[in-house]
Amino acid sequence: MTELAIAKKDLNKRGFLDIDVDPTMDLYEEINKLKKEKNAIILAHYYQESEIQDIADYIGDSLGLSQQAAATDAEIIVFAGVHFMAETAKMLSPEKKVLLPDLKAGCSLADSCPPHLFRKFKEKYPDHVVVSYINCTAELKTLTDICCTSSNAVHVINSIPEDKGIIFAPDRNLGAYLIKKTGRDLVLWNGTCMVHEIFSNEKITKLQMRRPDARLIAHPECENHILEKADFIGSTSQLLRYTKESEHDAFIVATESGIIHQMQKASPEKEFIPAPPNNETCACNDCPHMKLNTLEKLYLCMKHELPEIHLEDWVIEQGRASIDRMLEISRKAGL
Ligand code: 13P
Ligand code: SF4
Repeated sequence: MTELAIAKKDLNKRGFLDIDVDPTMDLYEEINKLKKEKNAIILAHYYQESEIQDIADYIGDSLGLSQQAAATDAEIIVFAGVHFMAETAKMLSPEKKVLLPDLKAGCSLADSCPPHLFRKFKEKYPDHVVVSYINCTAELKTLTDICCTSSNAVHVINSIPEDKGIIFAPDRNLGAYLIKKTGRDLVLWNGTCMVHEIFSNEKITKLQMRRPDARLIAHPECENHILEKADFIGSTSQLLRYTKESEHDAFIVATESGIIHQMQKASPEKEFIPAPPNNETCACNDCPHMKLNTLEKLYLCMKHELPEIHLEDWVIEQGRASIDRMLEISRKAGL
């Protein structure tokens, strides 16, 4: 068997094509060639490693990435992000080939809400509208009325009539933040993101005392005690915009560290300090799922058009409406 045949056979077990890449190869050049040859577009989330961000056609937050996936006329969408993002792209553009460099790039939030358990939970609130954070599986989207991202969650909640009860899944931290922001009484699913729960309250407080000049900026997936001390709360794209427009020169960044690459590029004269995690042995706030994608895996996946995202027709049919509603609310809100 050839190396490619073995790698294809192994794909489901490994999650990626495990083929040696010539270390002298100029991966940037090869990937750019493949993009043109195959009419492919690379969509990358801000949490991807810097070298992937630098070769992407579009870098953005979950909302921007969905909007791009819905609008692109490329034949192949290469998703440099995690599994639920690539699934969302497939739901929005089912006729296109959607590739993910590593199928094992999952998400702790999506994993925290298994559809069979959520179905039972939902049965307890038959009259409630279900709003799900886009960080959930395609199957969960089939049980959802409206999806949201951290950029549009407030707009989505406010679009629901006041007399309607709302279930919010799967992120209890974003849910608690939305209860405060909108004054609505949401029924929360008890899920969290492993990256945004790692920040140390004590170390951040000490850092703020040492650096009173630095603004604390936080993603709403963080726990309430972090959000309460934040100077600004927002999605990744909102945090990036804030750092560009702010008159301040230093920021403590309480979200995944990949976003700092774009912040530093946009404001080279400013200082960005990753918020310190609880962990004593590691100073990084990397998402282990996001960081499974590498430039080598991106190259291999474009060359061999594998791994590909496949979804059953019923999942696309029943799940897509929740994403379309979200995109419509965002369009009306000018997002
Ligand atoms: P946004 O980029 O939409 O803020 O989402 C952050 C995130 O956790 C993606 O996994
Ligand atoms: Fe999921 Fe958190 Fe990683 Fe985003 S940062 S992909 S929410 S585990």
